[in-house]
Amino acid sequence: MYVISIVCVLIAAVTAGGADLESGAGYSVHGIKLRSRSDQQLISELQQSVDLDIWQYGLPEGQDTLVMLSPENRVEVLDELDAKGIEHYLHLADVKQALETHAEEVKQWKQQSRSGGAVPFNDYPRYAEVDAYMESIAAQYPNLVTIVNAGKSFEGRDIKYLKISTTNFADASKPIYFMDAMMHAREWVTTPPTLYSIHRLVENLRDQDKDLLEDVDWIILPIANPDGYEYTHINSSTRMWRKTRSVNPEISENCIGVDPNRNFDTHWNTTGVSPNPCAETFPGNEAFSEPETRIVRDILLEHLDRMQVYMNIHSHGNWVLYGFDNYTLPPNYIHLHLVGASMGSVMDTMKLPQADWYKVGNSAMVFYETSGSAQDYGQLVGVPLSYTLELPGYGYGFLVPPQFIDHINKETWEGIAVTARMARIYHQSGL
Ligand SMILES: *[C@@H]1O[C@H](CO)[C@@H](O)[C@H](O)[C@H]1NC(C)=O
Ligand SMILES: *[C@@H]1O[C@H](CO)[C@@H](O)[C@H](O)[C@H]1NC(C)=O
Ligand SMILES: *[C@@H]1O[C@H](CO)[C@@H](O)[C@H](O)[C@H]1NC(C)=O
Repeated sequence: MYVISIVCVLIAAVTAGGADLESGAGYSVHGIKLRSRSDQQLISELQQSVDLDIWQYGLPEGQDTLVMLSPENRVEVLDELDAKGIEHYLHLADVKQALETHAEEVKQWKQQSRSGGAVPFNDYPRYAEVDAYMESIAAQYPNLVTIVNAGKSFEGRDIKYLKISTTNFADASKPIYFMDAMMHAREWVTTPPTLYSIHRLVENLRDQDKDLLEDVDWIILPIANPDGYEYTHINSSTRMWRKTRSVNPEISENCIGVDPNRNFDTHWNTTGVSPNPCAETFPGNEAFSEPETRIVRDILLEHLDRMQVYMNIHSHGNWVLYGFDNYTLPPNYIHLHLVGASMGSVMDTMKLPQADWYKVGNSAMVFYETSGSAQDYGQLVGVPLSYTLELPGYGYGFLVPPQFIDHINKETWEGIAVTARMARIYHQSGL
C-alpha cells in the first residue's frame, strides 16, 4: 500500500511539484512531531518521493517539522504519517490567505518606510535597491569598501559583493569572513542581515566593534540567487520559489531551475536529492551547472589561504549547522561546535519570546544525510569554520512580517560578531 500510494503521488508531483503555487489555493502547512531518527528518515524519504516541500526541519522531541502539502499530495502524506502513528497537526490552513496577507504587509511597510526615509536593510529590498545600496556604499567609502562584480546570473543579472577592509585585503595576517545570503529565493529574511552587517561595519561602526573592522577582512554577498529572488517578487503565486531560474530543454521542457544548495561539488547527486527536474531538491545535470554556485565557489577558492569563516545564510528554523553532510565530522569539529554554539547562545540571549531556541550540530546528525551543499563544499576545500545558518521564522515560515527585520538584523549581527572574534583568535593561533 505504501508503494502504491507513493507511485500515485509521484505522478502528481511531476506535474505540480516545484512549480508555482498557482495562487496557493488549497495548500496548507502541517506540523509533525518527530519521535525518533526513523521518523526523520521517513520525512526525508517523502521529501524525495512526493517532492514534499519542507518549510522547517525538525528534531525528535525537540522541534516540530513543518511541511507544506498540496491538494494533490495532502491525503497521501497524512495517511502515511497516520499509518506510522506519527502525530501531526494543522499549522497553517490556508497558504493562499497567508501569501496575500504577507504581500499586503510588505506593501504597507514599504509605503511607510519610504515616507520615513527608507533604509534597505530594514525592508525586503528588491535586487535593484540592494545593488544601489552596495554601489553607494562603495562610492562613499572608497578607502574601506571595494565592490566586485563577480559575473552574471543565468538571466544576466550582475552578482556583486563587497570587500570591506582597512588594509585593502593586503594584510595576510587577517582572517577573511565570508557571508552570503539568498541562495534560496523565498528566504527573504536572509538578505537584510547581510546589508545590516555592511551598515554596522561601514556606516555605523560602534566603539565596541572597532576590532571587527580593524582585524578582519569581510566579503559580503547579499543576493546569491538574484533571478530566483526577483521571481519571488512577481506575485503571490511565485513567492515560494526556491531554486535558480535556469532553463535546460535537454533536461526538461517544463521544469525550471536547480537547487543551488545541492549543486556544489561534494558527493554531488548522491543523497537528499531528487532526480525529478521539477523537484525542489533537483541538484542539476552536473555539479556547478549553475553560474550562481560557480560564483560562490570561486570566491571560496580565491581566498582560501586565509578565509576562516564561511556563513551560508538561510531561513528558517534557528539552526547553526556544520559538516559533513554524510555524518563524518571534520577534524576540527570541536572548534566548529564551540564557535557555532557561541553564535547560537549569543543570539538566544536576544531571542524574541515567539522564536525558537538556536540548535547547533552536524547537519547530517541533526537532520539526515544530504549532498552538494555550500556548507560542505566550503569545509571540504579548506575553510576551517563553514556553517549553514537558519534564521528564525517566528511561526510565519518564509513569510516573516517586515516588523521582525530590525530585530533579526541586530540579533544576527551579534552572532556574526562573536564568530568573527573567535575566528580571529584561531587564525592568530594558526588553527
Ligand atoms: C503570477 O505571475 C506568473 C508568472 O509571471 C503568471 O504566470 C501568473 O499568471 C501570475 N498569477 C497571478 C495570480 O497573477
Ligand atoms: C543523478 O542520480 C540519479 C539517481 O542515481 C540518476 O538517475 C541520474 O542519472 C543522475 N544524474 C546525473 C546527471 O548523473
Ligand atoms: C564524508 O565526506 C567527507 C568530505 O567529503 C569525506 O572526507 C569522508 O570520507 C566521507 N565519509 C564517508 C564515510 O564517506
